[in-house]
Amino acid sequence: MKTNIHQLLTQTPLDTEVVVKGWVRNRRGSKQVAFLTLNDGSTPHTIQIVVNFDTIAEEILKGITTGACLKVVGKLIASQGQQAKEVVAQSIEVYGLADGETYPLQPRKHSLEFIRENAHLRARTATFGAVFRIRHSLAFAVHEYFNKEGFYYVNTPIITASDAEGAGQMFRVTTLDLQQPPQTEEGQLDFAEDFFGRSTNLTVSGQLEAELLALGLGKVYTFGPTFRAENSNTTRHLSEFWMIEPEMAFYNIQDNMDLAEDFVKYVIRYALQHNPEDLQFLEKRLLDEEKNKKQEERSPMPLVEKLNFVLDHSFERITYTEAINILLNSKPHKKKKFTYEVKWGIDLQSEHERYLVEKHFKKPVIIVDYPKAIKAFYMKSNDQEEVGKETVRAMDVLFPGIGEIIGGSQREENYEKLTERMTAMNISLEEMWWYLDTRRFGTAPHSGFGLGFERLVQFVTGMTNIRDVIPFPRTPKNADF
Ligand code: 4AD
Ligand code: MG
Repeated sequence: MKTNIHQLLTQTPLDTEVVVKGWVRNRRGSKQVAFLTLNDGSTPHTIQIVVNFDTIAEEILKGITTGACLKVVGKLIASQGQQAKEVVAQSIEVYGLADGETYPLQPRKHSLEFIRENAHLRARTATFGAVFRIRHSLAFAVHEYFNKEGFYYVNTPIITASDAEGAGQMFRVTTLDLQQPPQTEEGQLDFAEDFFGRSTNLTVSGQLEAELLALGLGKVYTFGPTFRAENSNTTRHLSEFWMIEPEMAFYNIQDNMDLAEDFVKYVIRYALQHNPEDLQFLEKRLLDEEKNKKQEERSPMPLVEKLNFVLDHSFERITYTEAINILLNSKPHKKKKFTYEVKWGIDLQSEHERYLVEKHFKKPVIIVDYPKAIKAFYMKSNDQEEVGKETVRAMDVLFPGIGEIIGGSQREENYEKLTERMTAMNISLEEMWWYLDTRRFGTAPHSGFGLGFERLVQFVTGMTNIRDVIPFPRTPKNADF
């Protein structure tokens, strides 16, 4: 019976006959004996296979190099070498060789850029094995958390006709003939001829639909792909990413913040409990990588300590106005080190967010009550504001090294206030009739937020580029694999 390598290393008793299947990471040896290390994706570690040429014909070993896939039958024994256990091969079957000349992944260390160009093979590397196992655990923990908290998992459409959210540029979905598109009498593209009889796009968020479901089911969440066609080439933006959006009837902004903090801590704790070896591996990798960096560019804490630190401290909660005041009194502001101007009303830039989180508070921060003018139409207005300084009940959760990881708000449930705001922002009330119906019929206070799943995976794995935490990244000018 085949055992996975994780089980072999941690559970299987010595002197058991075992069957191992996996890919060769490394081969070395002498005239009498060869040592192969195998990995099968179940662990960051490898198992060493000892091949004696008096048991296994040297012929079979020919051509076995890094990347080959094998089935090995043998005996698990205590190792003479560094590892605790190894397998002495009794027979070897080759499933597939990997030509040593052309196989891109060699035992030496490759740069992440190089591995990214070979993303089709990167699941076979130690680093990406660890990242994708942690990604799985976090996804699983998301469902576990909401299920235990009484939320229902709902699926919102990927193709949408509404573009009211205003969260970003959208990708058009069309079956029109782009060579000869149908035109209206006014010479415009005639979307009446298109597949859905109207203009459609890929969704930028499932929130508006999640609101409809929450105002009936109570507490719901989505976890699905989200698309934004902005031309942002940064280490924190993808054109296709996964977002988790809980939406809760009867939650105010305080409840929303409490939920966000409890939820993120739960999933991080889950990864610490379920992926200790992967995290240790990635921590070591980061420390090696940072050896060549200047002190100020290094992470202030090793990975696992950083994660525990987040669990052990409550997130700082401040208003936008307080954040601006801290920035105005900060050294970088006084020494004119910020690139972007600081004043009440600005959209906080990443340099401002990083200062607050990494330098000032040194822990996750939740900022609430943002200026109305820079936020979406659906956010609930705060009462009795100074004219020109109106705010809404928006919240952003900021994480060290990442910046914004969560964005959310209490929603405007008042029909008059909502429609007034939409009109002011040129959002069609007619097109949004279905959304407005929730406020016309049995409206209720409610709140929700969106967590960028890849940014969470980045934080937990310590990977600095978001392209390295999703198996097949989509970014401007890049849709390979
Ligand atoms: O702040 P955003 O745009 O919020 C919304 O879309 C709301 N509808 C959420 C809600 O209230 N239900 O996006 C939410 C999160 C961000 O905080 C960020 O973590 C992530 O989604 N995000 C991205 N992640 C990767 N690549 C991008 N281009 C992202 N844009 C946003
Ligand atoms: Mg946001």
